[in-house]
Amino acid sequence: MGHPFYITTAISYPNGRPHIGHAYEAIAADAIARFQRQAGRDVRFQTGTDEHGLKMVQTARDRGVEVRALADEMSGYFKAMCDKLEVSYDRFIRTTDTDHHRASQAIWQAMADAGDLYLDRYEGWYSVRDEAFYDEKELVEGEGGAKLSPQGTPVTWTAEETWFFRLSRYQQPLLDFYAANSDFIRPEARRNEILRFVEGGLSDLSVSRTSFDWGVAVPGSPGHVMYVWVDALTNYLTGAGYPDGDMTYWPADLHLIGKDIVRFHAVYWPAFLMSAGIALPKTVFGHGFLLHRGEKMSKSLGNVVDPLDLADLFGVDGLRYFLLREVSFGQDGSYSAEAIVTRVNAELANAFGNLAQRTLSFIAKNLGGAFPETGRADLADAQLIEEVVVACAGLRAGFDDLLLSQGVEAWLRGVFACNQYIDAQAPWSLRKTDPERMHAVLRTLVRAIRMLAIAILPVVPAGAGRVLDQLGAAERDHVAIDDDGWYQRRVDAGAVIAPPTPAFPRLELPAETEPA
Ligand code: MSP
Repeated sequence: MGHPFYITTAISYPNGRPHIGHAYEAIAADAIARFQRQAGRDVRFQTGTDEHGLKMVQTARDRGVEVRALADEMSGYFKAMCDKLEVSYDRFIRTTDTDHHRASQAIWQAMADAGDLYLDRYEGWYSVRDEAFYDEKELVEGEGGAKLSPQGTPVTWTAEETWFFRLSRYQQPLLDFYAANSDFIRPEARRNEILRFVEGGLSDLSVSRTSFDWGVAVPGSPGHVMYVWVDALTNYLTGAGYPDGDMTYWPADLHLIGKDIVRFHAVYWPAFLMSAGIALPKTVFGHGFLLHRGEKMSKSLGNVVDPLDLADLFGVDGLRYFLLREVSFGQDGSYSAEAIVTRVNAELANAFGNLAQRTLSFIAKNLGGAFPETGRADLADAQLIEEVVVACAGLRAGFDDLLLSQGVEAWLRGVFACNQYIDAQAPWSLRKTDPERMHAVLRTLVRAIRMLAIAILPVVPAGAGRVLDQLGAAERDHVAIDDDGWYQRRVDAGAVIAPPTPAFPRLELPAETEPA
């Protein structure tokens, strides 16, 4: 087994059904996980639901259901979304899981042992929607002078006896850590935000609640449950086997989260871990938000789109490809039905799908499916292979550095090179005039298509998998990408290519373009 690679998504609040923003994060994390597996890493990939806290309690109350029943039902939808979108998680964690309660109590105890927890009275502003405390100075003014959190959500004044975490103690250690680990917070804009926030000074953090009991019990302190973010963040440790397991996958390589929750992951989380004497994760990456036609999604705007509907309309591969290709990773991105259809048809269905379809069906029809012989080579063949090798290496470099859209763009250059080659070489007209040359051209194309299909597997696992199945290409890791020995082995095995079916169907713009 290769070197461990532990990747996590945020765990979502199951107070409603998942929307496209949740799907986006799960898909991006999945593409990275699949990519790292292909690279030979021993990947552990965790996602799940964040089920405690006041938001869950209030939603359940409003709906007249038990909070446990709400969590069960909605968590099921999140899991179903991951399964439908081919998100290859190793564990779908629920913070109501028993081992998670144990892990949360263990980290609490470790922070207490370090002298970082004390009982006092909390008075201040709390946003239930964000499950976050805010200082007076952070609040903004809404309509009619209402006080709002910096995220624009309502805040209420709360006063209760709570446990505090000595966050103020960690200001300097955190700044030192950021300085020594420039890759800890990415992208750059998020890092700068956090540096400014921590440089501004840190107040101690209220980390328990007494006004409700839906949460992890604070050890030795009856009536207190942990602040939901304490147990939520600890999910990453639970998944690594904390406190009794071998912790093979810790520290995490990548916490992939949205830009709205970077503070929790890049300030509170490392401070908790430092306090508990546990190694810190390597990178926290705050991706951008997905906007519908440039607008924020909200229930009142009626554009909170169900990712399962989108997958039915545009296909799982279509949706995955669009999101990873269109949105520059780390920035906000916009989507609409037209944008998805245009992108998927031009690049996936036409440029790549059609290339594979034309080539393989031509071989099936004219060579009885036999892998084309060596034929008469030309400089153009070697040039094409070189361009495709460079394109696939570009995808790998992009994915290695979390530049996902740039990676896909590099790949696409290889696809376009193949299309230019096929038009210039016109194997169909060589069939009668120069079959030797035709063989060499087809052979080059088969090798190129296989390399491109392997490289794009993390993005479109189903369609790329179908192309590789049609070629009988079982080896799919990176090492196999530019190995021409594969071709010879297919020939030696007397393998044949069956008449192919299109791997990437063309999309039609849905008659009714709303709400997608
Ligand atoms: N429960 C917390 C996370 C705890 S992690 C220890 C939470 N949940 S959430 O359901 O509100 O959000 C889950 C993830 O989805 C977050 O990373 C969030 O940034 C992301 N997104 C929510 N809306 C989004 C978009 N519109 N676009 C992209 N991602 C978005 O926060």
